[in-house]
Amino acid sequence: MSKGTEKKQILCIGAGYVGGPTMAMIAARCPQHDVTVVDINAQRIKAWQSDDLPIYEPKLLEVVKEARNRNLFFSTEIDENIKKADIIFVSVNTPTKTFGVGAGKAADLQYWEKTARNIVQASESDKIIVEKSTLPVRTARAMERILNANDKGLHFEVLSNPEFLAEGTAIQDLEQPDRVLIGSQETESGIAARQQLVDIYANWVSKEKIVTSNIWSAELSKLVANAFLAQRISSINSISALCEKTEANVSEVARAIGMDSRIGAKFLNASVGFGGSCFKKDILNLVYIAENYGLTEVARYWESVIAINEYQEQRFVRQMIKVMFNTVAGKKITLFGFAFKKDTGDTRESPAIYIAKRLLEEKAQVVISDPKALVNAKNDLAEFGSEVIFEEDPYKASKDAHAIAVLTEWDSFTTLDYDKIYRSMVKPAFVFDGRNILDHDALFKIGFSVFRIGRPSLRHF
Ligand code: NAD
Ligand code: UGA
Repeated sequence: MSKGTEKKQILCIGAGYVGGPTMAMIAARCPQHDVTVVDINAQRIKAWQSDDLPIYEPKLLEVVKEARNRNLFFSTEIDENIKKADIIFVSVNTPTKTFGVGAGKAADLQYWEKTARNIVQASESDKIIVEKSTLPVRTARAMERILNANDKGLHFEVLSNPEFLAEGTAIQDLEQPDRVLIGSQETESGIAARQQLVDIYANWVSKEKIVTSNIWSAELSKLVANAFLAQRISSINSISALCEKTEANVSEVARAIGMDSRIGAKFLNASVGFGGSCFKKDILNLVYIAENYGLTEVARYWESVIAINEYQEQRFVRQMIKVMFNTVAGKKITLFGFAFKKDTGDTRESPAIYIAKRLLEEKAQVVISDPKALVNAKNDLAEFGSEVIFEEDPYKASKDAHAIAVLTEWDSFTTLDYDKIYRSMVKPAFVFDGRNILDHDALFKIGFSVFRIGRPSLRHF
């Protein structure tokens, strides 16, 4: 058999936003290997076994269905599957620590360490362990120490293969990645293990896009990629505040600077702020590591990316309250979108959470409309009980509202009948477009007062 074709038992521990889609893609593109995904959450596993997947991601169901029960399996039998596996991807969550040393910054590695101990205890043969989760640089050293301190004579080779997919485009990103990064120890066994992983990806990713590196570079590159992406958003958002004061238009500025090939056009959309489970967590992680090495200036530099993001969210709500005559108490305000971006039901760290909470504190009557995120939104705002209304239909959601705030850039919000919406609202009717996706001139003509990011407002008063 040629390289990469011998059947391998691949296991992934953690069936979340990363584990599920990445393993579905490996199984679909490598029918010669068996791929099993396990999780401690039985409900999640059950959902992966059904057509009602636990996460919403365009085209995911098709890829899952292509391989499920052929060479893709979902299971809660963790120990049994560890025993059988040749290669184990670990894709458990690594949230920000909320207690003890490093609280609020460092990564909470308890799920990670539990998994490592689980692997040692259940294993009966040598294995390759792949870090898929995003981890602090040098975690592989700790992982190796835990794994190789076994008295069974087993050897575990740890690789770092960080995931760069973005939610909403996960399948496209996995199918045609900009690059696949695989870090290993530069020992004979490390390089041999790395080659096994290269061979798996080479089933559908071209060789020049599979980048290998030392293990620490791979771990650090993941944190740095997210930090750079978030930094671009904070940079353009900081400029959006200046545009609002100077009558410059942030979209025109972004276009003009983005045409410089050294800057590039992507990721320059000014917004209400970035959300998602990773940008903030990974930057905080970077800040914590820099602080630990005594690099205070480096830590402060990256911290400012988060500070601008918080400022952007805060000034959005402040403006809403200010222009609605300094009070929103008792006023119905409809949030168009709760997901942290379009094409996902994920609401983790969504700016909408902060904005909804601030409006509720101000005693507004908040109504939330989102095509995919209402279940998560209900959990996020559970403490407010029946004070918040969840309504998928945007027309019903905005009836009798004083204002609409667009917080997620769902395409469906751009094609609504805003004439009809305007007629059903309390006057003066306000639109706060936190994503700059609507036709502001048309809204203004209809009668709305329109407030947008990085451009002067259009007011009827
Ligand atoms: P998630 O919370 O959706 O999924 C993690 C899963 O791991 C959960 O289902 C949880 O039950 C399971 N788990 C935890 N401990 C376990 C254990 N001991 N045994 C078995 N299962 C266990 O998280 P996610 O969004 O998939 O992220 C996972 C990692 O990937 C994180 O480090 C994250 O930073 C990184 N990442 C996420 C994305 C993304 O788009 N969400 C992209 C790239 C990288
Ligand atoms: C991000 C990275 O893009 C992925 O490469 C990475 O793998 C992932 O984090 C991770 O490690 O979890 P994701 O958070 O899913 O992916 O989505 P993005 O498209 O990066 O958007 C993040 C946030 O930034 C969203 O709230 C989005 O609306 C916002 N954003 C994005 C802007 O405000 N402006 C932009 O120009 C782009």
